[in-house]
Formats: sequence, structure tokens, C-alpha cells
Amino acid sequence: MFRPLPHRVPAAISSAASAPAFTGNQAALAAAPQFPHTWVPLATTYELDPDRPTPVSFLGQRYVAYRNNDGEWVVMDDACPHRLAPLSEGRVDRETDRIECAYHGWSFDSSGQCARIPQATDAVAAASLQSTRACVASYPTRVEKSVLFAWLWPEDLLTVVADPAAQPETMLAGVDLDTSTYTRDLPYGWDTLLENIVDPSHIPFAHHGLQGKRTDAIAINMSAPESLGAAGLLFEFGDRTMGMRRSSIGEFRAPFVVAYNGSFEGSPKMFNLTVVCLPTAPGWSRTIIFGGIKPEARVAHAKAGDAEVARQRSRLSVPALQKLGPKPKPSLFAKIFSLLPTWAIHLGSNRFLDSDLAFLHFQEQTLRQRGAPKPASAYFMPAPSDRVIVALRRWLEQYAHVLGPLPPPIQTRAALFDRWTQHTAHCRHCQTAVAGIARWRKRLNVGLVLCLAAASHWAARLLGVACLGGLGLLGLVEQQFRVSDYKHYQT
Ligand code: FES
Ligand SMILES: [Fe+2]
Repeated sequence: MFRPLPHRVPAAISSAASAPAFTGNQAALAAAPQFPHTWVPLATTYELDPDRPTPVSFLGQRYVAYRNNDGEWVVMDDACPHRLAPLSEGRVDRETDRIECAYHGWSFDSSGQCARIPQATDAVAAASLQSTRACVASYPTRVEKSVLFAWLWPEDLLTVVADPAAQPETMLAGVDLDTSTYTRDLPYGWDTLLENIVDPSHIPFAHHGLQGKRTDAIAINMSAPESLGAAGLLFEFGDRTMGMRRSSIGEFRAPFVVAYNGSFEGSPKMFNLTVVCLPTAPGWSRTIIFGGIKPEARVAHAKAGDAEVARQRSRLSVPALQKLGPKPKPSLFAKIFSLLPTWAIHLGSNRFLDSDLAFLHFQEQTLRQRGAPKPASAYFMPAPSDRVIVALRRWLEQYAHVLGPLPPPIQTRAALFDRWTQHTAHCRHCQTAVAGIARWRKRLNVGLVLCLAAASHWAARLLGVACLGGLGLLGLVEQQFRVSDYKHYQT
């Protein structure tokens, strides 16, 4: 789906000398330090609630995203032109198909044009609605493989039509159309996130027990990364994970995507991973990880996969089929995984991201405090697996200057591991699960009261205990949507 340039881009106005001038977020991005101008992946339509204006950020600027009545995704500056209240605190009025500011009720159509100033007389409103100052900047959007992209830069997006690296389809090449996503806002910057995602050597330790084990660690064989210039990096390596040797190719598709393709020694299993990394604000970044197939597409996918395997097998000769053996059955883990609802997969993903969250937050603070002129010079990186970090830091120095002052370190573990703000609040699947928990809590409380009223019967007492157990379980699950510390010394 492609939402082209609105009939007007209200924030772009012309000065007396007719040189283009910009307001709001466009002005900030026009003055921003060097950064590649491409489509920007802000969020995923798989997780966004289409009826709710959701705040999203890029390079320290706030935007609001929602879906209009035509099914198109709209991205605007998240500031009402009246007195700058965030539009993401407002609502989408489905009768008028406008976003309405929660403060004084000004409302705007999808192009950002102000359509109503409730407090103004007809004459004042008629004059004011014509002013560009009453408009909000609204940006072209595209949805590619569930990812919502926006063109946020001051110049026309036609400037990059010939640049494949700037296009969403190039960034997400290899991702299945039906893949589900998991999005998390992380309390460390984009450069720290990229450094972590391109680094295979941390997996056995940082994700011990979640993906492989500490005993998987071996000397990683990594060749010198190949520079693709502004387009990124290519790196090859051999490592071990979950007890299996693995050969992989990693790609940094600058500036936002890291993609891996690999195979395991002596196993038909393949390894594919695509991760989006977005600079949201100083000391903060957003990651979008592509996971399993969306629940609603799993059956069709399994059937298509079976049909493809059957088609390939039908072409083989009998001896070749005998050599191949019977069709492999999915593992128990794969079977269980295929039954899980999205919120349960997201809880697992939360745990995975928690496991390197704290040390990355403080590592970044220390790196900045030491004030090394070049971040990589503050590190001691003798192993071949560190080559990719050196190459990435070189790329950042050359093409993306986004290292602004960091906010102060986060003081409490609860704030550091605040899953609610970092994921749950903006994920419709997890929000639905939390609402379901609230409904069940109400039912169990009613059940408990009824059981107490009939406590003279042994069956009621038994049922009461079951209600109490259910309430305890709901509390434990709900806590996982809110906050959960991660302690490596306990794993
Ligand atoms: S700040 Fe939005 S209507 Fe007043
Ligand atoms: Fe979620």
C-alpha cells in the first residue's frame, strides 16, 4: 500500500525569496547531523492499533501514526499547531475521518489540513483555516511486509526513486510476506543497538539458556567485513550455537536493517534473521524483529509448504527418494511454537531483549563518559569476531552522525526493564491479552465471593481454592507484560 504525497505538504512553505523553508519536524531534520535519506521504518501495522493515534519517534522528533477510513496509514508531526499538544493524545473521529486534538478539539484531515477550530467564529475560522500555520505536516507512507515506512525528509521523495537501497522492498528483501513482528523500544542508542545486532560473539553469553549456552562459545572465524560504501557491510563468519556449528553471512543494509542467512553443519536447518534498528532519540532506539508466521496465516503457510515439498519430491526418482528418506516431521518445539498466540511469543521476545538490555545501557554511558574521540578507540578488540564492530564504527563515522548528548543513566531496575512502556503499551496483541486478564480476574473474583458464600459445601471450598490459584496465576502472567528484571548471575 502506498500513500503518495498529500495534495499539499502543509509544513513546507516558501519564504519571500522563494527558497524552501520548513517548520516543525522537517526543519529539525533539515538541520540534523548527517544521516542517509531513505524511507524510514517507524513501526509495524501488525502491532499498531489502527484506531488509536500512536506516537512514534525518529532522530528525536515525535510523529503520530493512525489508519484513516480509506485504510491508508497516516503519519504526521505529533504537535497540534494551536499550542503544540501531542495529537497522539487525541482521537480519530471516524465520522469525519479526522484526527482531533485532545486539548481544544482542533481537527485535521489526512493531509494535515486543519478542518475545524471549535472556538473561532465563522469569520475567524474561515480566515484561519486558510493559513499554513493551522496545518500539521503529513508525510507520504508505505507499508511493506507489515512495516510502516514514512518519507520524513524535507526534500521530495522522488530524489531517491533510483536508489534501490533507499526503498522498503530492498531493506526487507528475503522477509516472508506473512512473517509476524515484535517491536521494542530500548534504553540505549541506535549505534549501540547496531553494534549488538551485528555481533554474533555475544550470543552464547548474553542469551545463555535462551539461544544456546555459554559452552557454545568458540573462537569465531570471521573474515574481514566487505564495505559496501554508504549501502553498508557484508561479513561472513562461522560459530557454534545450540551445540551446532553454523556458517552465516551477515548484511548491514544501511542505515536500518541487519539480515542474516546461515546453515548448520550436518543439518537441513537454515538460519534467517532480519532486524530493523531505528534511531528514535538520544540514548534510545527501536528494534523490529521478524519472527514466526502470523497465526492467521499459519495453516495456509503449512499447506503451501507441504505442497511445495510434495511438488519437489514428486520430481525425484525412486532411488533418490529412498536416499532422502521419509519427509521430516516438525520438531516438538516447532509444533508448540506454531500453537502459541502472538502475545506469548512477545513475552518470550521481551525476555530475550531483556537479557542484554542492562549492560548495553551502562556500556553506552561509560563509553560516552570516557569521551574517546572515536568510540572504537575506547574498546580493546583483539578477536577476529570484533572486526565487524570496527567496520561498523567506521561506517557510522562516515555516514551517520547521530551521537547527541545522552540522557542521564536510568536509576532503577524497574525503569530500566519497563516492558510496559517499551513494548506492551504500543502492541495491540499484548493489550488484548492484558484486557483478557482483567476480564478473567473479574470472573474469578465473582466466583470467589460466591464460593465464600457457600463455604459450608466442600465443593465450594475446593472451587474457591481454584479461584485463588487462578488469580495468582493471572497476576504472575500480567506482571510479565509490565516489568521483569534479568539477572545473569541467576542463569
Ligand atoms: S493545543 Fe490542540 S487544540 Fe489547542
Ligand atoms: Fe506484544
